[in-house]
Order: sequence, then structure tokens, then C-alpha cells
Amino acid sequence: MTEAYKAEIAKLVTEVNDHAYRYYVLSSPVISDAAYDRLYRTLEALEQEHPEYILPESPTQRVGGAPLAAFESVAHSVPMLSLSNAMDSAELEEFVARTERFLAKEGGGNPAFSVEYKFDGVAVSLRYEEGLLVQAATRGDGSTGEDVTQNIRTIESIPLKLRNVTPAVFEVRGEVLFLLSDFERYNAERIQQRLEPFANPRNASSGSLRQLDPAETAKRPLTFFAYGVGVVDGLELPASNIERMALIAELGFRVSPLLREASSATVLKQVYAEAEASRGTLPFEVDGVVVKVNAIAQQELLGFRQRSPRWAIAGKFAASEEHTTLLDIQIQVGRTGALTPVAILEPVQVGGVMVSRATLHNEDEIQRKDIKIGDTVVVKRMGDVIPAVSAVVTALRDGSEKVFRFPTNCPVCAAPVLKEADEAVYRCTNRSCPARLEQRVMHFASRNAADIDGLGSKLVTLLLDSKLITSIADLYELRAEVVAPLPRMGDTSADNLIKALEKSKHISLSRFIYALGIRHVGERTAQVLAQAFGDLATFRKCSYEDLLAINEVGEGTAEAVVTFLEDPDEQEQLGRLIELGFVITHTAETKTGDLLAGKNFVLTGTLETFSRSEAKKRIEALAGKVTGSVSNKTDYVVAGTDPGSKISRAEALGVTVLTEQEFLALLERE
Ligand code: IVH
Repeated sequence: MTEAYKAEIAKLVTEVNDHAYRYYVLSSPVISDAAYDRLYRTLEALEQEHPEYILPESPTQRVGGAPLAAFESVAHSVPMLSLSNAMDSAELEEFVARTERFLAKEGGGNPAFSVEYKFDGVAVSLRYEEGLLVQAATRGDGSTGEDVTQNIRTIESIPLKLRNVTPAVFEVRGEVLFLLSDFERYNAERIQQRLEPFANPRNASSGSLRQLDPAETAKRPLTFFAYGVGVVDGLELPASNIERMALIAELGFRVSPLLREASSATVLKQVYAEAEASRGTLPFEVDGVVVKVNAIAQQELLGFRQRSPRWAIAGKFAASEEHTTLLDIQIQVGRTGALTPVAILEPVQVGGVMVSRATLHNEDEIQRKDIKIGDTVVVKRMGDVIPAVSAVVTALRDGSEKVFRFPTNCPVCAAPVLKEADEAVYRCTNRSCPARLEQRVMHFASRNAADIDGLGSKLVTLLLDSKLITSIADLYELRAEVVAPLPRMGDTSADNLIKALEKSKHISLSRFIYALGIRHVGERTAQVLAQAFGDLATFRKCSYEDLLAINEVGEGTAEAVVTFLEDPDEQEQLGRLIELGFVITHTAETKTGDLLAGKNFVLTGTLETFSRSEAKKRIEALAGKVTGSVSNKTDYVVAGTDPGSKISRAEALGVTVLTEQEFLALLERE
């Protein structure tokens, strides 16, 4: 019996790790987050009952150890080297020529190169013994680093156990970093908590990895990309870099999404240019490419000089930081009334794109960075995302710079602005502020919301200015002949707009909720709400407690939703939208992990394979429900040996009765 627990725990560990791998490494999950959480909790519960069967690679073992007093040093048996740089394609061409000459002299043949992204994070070396992660160290000075094993274990994209193989020793090297989306979210949280935000993802990763308390590192959404190996014993490595990278990926790691072979200087320069152009579309920051001689035999012939290999070079990209003058600070009013300061800049090219505006987040941020109008500032573009003012060059001040005073009234409607006690942003207090309305209409019409084709920002402004609309619902009472005379419209565009409006009335519940523009309710939360309430009427009646009972909904969101739903104006607007013919549908999510969603089970008699509580957990892990008594809401009665009276009741009600075997088959269908 206990052997069965051991096997069950091992199976769940593999299963949860597989799903985590799909989510964090492959970015293609096959079950919902909720289903994943349920599996994880089932495992956690079984492990609590049988701690003797906890495996070192169990996902529950990522955060374990107590805070450290200091990091121990670790000697790298194969040193972690640096790379020499090529600043442009001419210098890359020289590298190719140099490499060809060297190999010709040694009789090593003609080289081909592999090109991958150069990650801008923190270098680490991870050591696996018999397939299990045993040690992780920072690069340090290249020969000695710091032991950051506890912190590294908290990074979900790092497998605690290699997939498929168990070599005696396998050291993998790579870079720990923040994905840009994680970085922005994490920094926003810090700003909200009045903590100093990080200047860039690189600083954030190195700071996060050097926390003495692993529980703190666990809160930081770090990612790992592998780019090479150190000591390897007991595993045959392929003979080229590209094949080695493919092997590393098979063992469970994320690797550079760019991995291209270049057979000549001409091809290499082209790949380099393409990589630089793709820079802004990447989910992480890169500062260049790394070019490596592809054949390992040729790498060995080339060897090293001092601290860097002769067989590789970093091809750097143009700087993504520039200096410019801050001409002014303007205030933008968002759809929830939030006032955001925006830097108006002397236009400057940053990483190949002209930048003339950058967000300054909020008043605290301006004070913290001591930003004044007229300052020379450092402008940084993070990937292709929003440009930001990262610092002021105070040395260049001449005394003419002016302190910016945050307005006490809304720049659009002149209503007073207010900052709530626990917030960093000011908001316009006028709920019918035209700027808010404009932003709300635009949000409602946007692609992932009601997706009203042809209703762009210019037309929204025009409709509002000409008083043709004063609310979202008004859009649906527009007639083509009223719209056609507007500048740049005409009959065809007007007809198309009316058609697009009609089409937008058929909408899914989650998009509709998202389109309403409720504070804190983004696309993901809207989906969660749609899933939880099923239809608009139920959603409209939901209470604060109903909302808090949902796993992914916090207090701030619950409060914002309730405030919105209780607002008489919003109620009226919702009522009108329904009257105007909105058809809001909800198709329940049927991910494989939610196989038993909506199904009610009753367990009776003794089961062979599981205890009752375990069977209950398995059902709940697949989103099913277990109740005590049979009613006409029951979908299945699972009958073990000596079942009792529940069976006759089930038969009387026509409820399906499953044998234990049939029940197992149902669970396995997953
Ligand atoms: S290969 C012998 N590949 O850049 C050194 N390094 O400036 C082989 N880095 O310390 C390094 N992305 O931490 C390699 N795709 C990549 C990389 C990469 C970032 C870092 C690495 C190294 C530093 C050298």
C-alpha cells in the first residue's frame, strides 16, 4: 500500500515537472493554470502524508533552505571565460578572416559559424550529478564564483532533474535574466510598495540572485537561458555547437531562439543585421549576438588567449541608451482617471528608433530620480517596449532647470485630483472627465476588447468633440447618415463602421468584461471572472466575497469590480448595452486538465487503489466536485466494495454508477 503512495508521488512529480517544463521552457502549456495548481496541491498533500517519499526533484522542493549568512565560494573546474567584442560588422569580418587564417595555418579546414543571441543577464554554472541539480555558482572572477544553489533552485525554467538522461556529471552554463514583461510587472509592484525600482533587467537579475534568503529570490520571476557546457562526464556530446545546443534543449533548458549557421562572412553579416533588427521583438534584453566556430574540433585547434576563446566573439548591437534634453513634462489622463506624467524629449535615435516621448510613471518616480525640466537625461529603450528616462546627468545642469510641480487639477477638465493613501498615482475626481471617457471608448473598441474595426483614436475624438456620443452605449445608436459627414468619413466608411459596431455586439463574456475597462481587470483577470461566473447576469450580481473566493483575484481587484458594478451610471450603461442587442456568450474552457469540470461525484464503499480522501483529491485536481449524498445534481457515483444504500438511490435517480475500474479509466483519459 505504501509502495503505491511512493509510485503515486513519483508519478505526480514527473507530471507536474512536465507541465512546468511546457509552461516555463517551451511556453506552450497544455493545461490551465488552475489545473496545474490543483495537481501541485495534490502532490503537496500526498507528500505531507508521506514525507519519506519526497523526491529531490519534486517541484515542492524549490524553496527550502534557511537564509544564509554569506555565500560560500565555488571553484570552477573549467573556467568561465569572457568574450572579446566586435563593435560592428567590419569587426566581425575581421574576426572571420583571423579565424580562417589561423585554421589554414593549423590545417584545420574552413570554418562555419553559429550565431545566437547574447543574453544580458548574470552568468551562472549549474552542476548536475546523476541527473540531479547539486550546485549552482555565479561566474565571479571566472575561476571562483559564489554558491547560489538555493536561489537557483527557485527558478522554474531550471530543471531540478535533467530530462531523459542521468550522466555522472553535467555542467551547463548560461545566463539568469528577467523577461521584459516580468521585469515591468515586478518593478511596478516595487513602485507600488514604495520600494526602489531596478534601473534595468540586468541589475534586477544580479540583485535577485544575490539574496541571502532564497524565499526572497523565489518572489522574483527569473528565467534561465543555457548557452554552453562545463565539465561533462558520462554523456557523449555532439561535434558541433548547434547540435550541442539542441542537446541542451532536449535536457530541459531554454536556449537562444536564434541559432543559425553562417558559412561565410557575408552570411554572418546578414544574420547579424537581422538579429539586430529583431531585437525589439524579443521577450528579453540582448546586447548583441555571440558568434562561435561551429565545429568543436576547430574550436579546440583555435584554443584560448588569456581570458577569452579564439573561437568566439560577441557581436555587439548599437547602444540602447542615449542622452537627450527633457523639454517638458505633460500629463496624460487614462481611462481610470490616472494622471501619468510623460516626458517630452528632444527627439533622439535610441537603438535605431526615434524617441520623443517617454513615460515617467508617477510623481514619486520624478522625485526619486530628481528629474527637472531642461535636464539632460538618459533615455533607454527596453526591447521595443516603452522608452523610459532612466537617469539624469546632473553634472550637465546649469541652474536653469525647473522643478516640476504635479498639478492639483486635471489638465483636461480642471476637476481636483486626488491621491489615495496607499497609492502612488493621482486620479481625476470627475467621473465624466472627457479624457477618461475618450480612453474608455478607445479601450472598449480595441482589438482584444470589442474589436470595433475602423474606430480609431481620431474618430473617437471626433465623435466625442461633436457630441455625437457621450458614452460607450451611444456608439450603438449611431446612424450612418450622421457619421458620413464627419471629416475623412464618407458613406462607405460610415457604413463599414455601423457594420463593425453590429458585429461587435456578438462577444464572449471574457472580452466583454475586459472591454468594460474596470480598474485592475486586464485580459487574464477578465478570463478568470468569466470562467468563475459563467454569464453576465451572475457576474453583475457578484459580491466582494464571491470575488475573493476566486483563486487569482486579490482584494484590490475585488474592490474595484464591486465599486464598478455598484455604480449607478455603470449599471445604467450595462443595461443599455443589453437593450441595444449585445449577445454575450460564454464557452467554458475545456482544457484537458479540467476534464471533470462541472461534474459532481459521490464516493461509496471501499476503493482498492486509493483512500477516499485521495480519490477526492484526484477528482478535484481535474476540477470535479465530490459531495456526500446522491441527488439529481450528481453525475457519477463511484462504487467500491460494500457500497451501501447510495447505489440504490443512484439507480432510482438514473445517475451513472462507475466501478473502480471505470473510475480509473475516467481519470486516465486525461
Ligand atoms: S558563450 C568562453 N554565449 O557573455 C565563453 N556567452 O562577455 C563562452 N553570454 O560570460 C561564452 N549570452 O555570460 C556565450 N549566447 C551566449 C551568451 C554568452 C551571454 C555572456 C556570458 C559570458 C559573457 C561574455
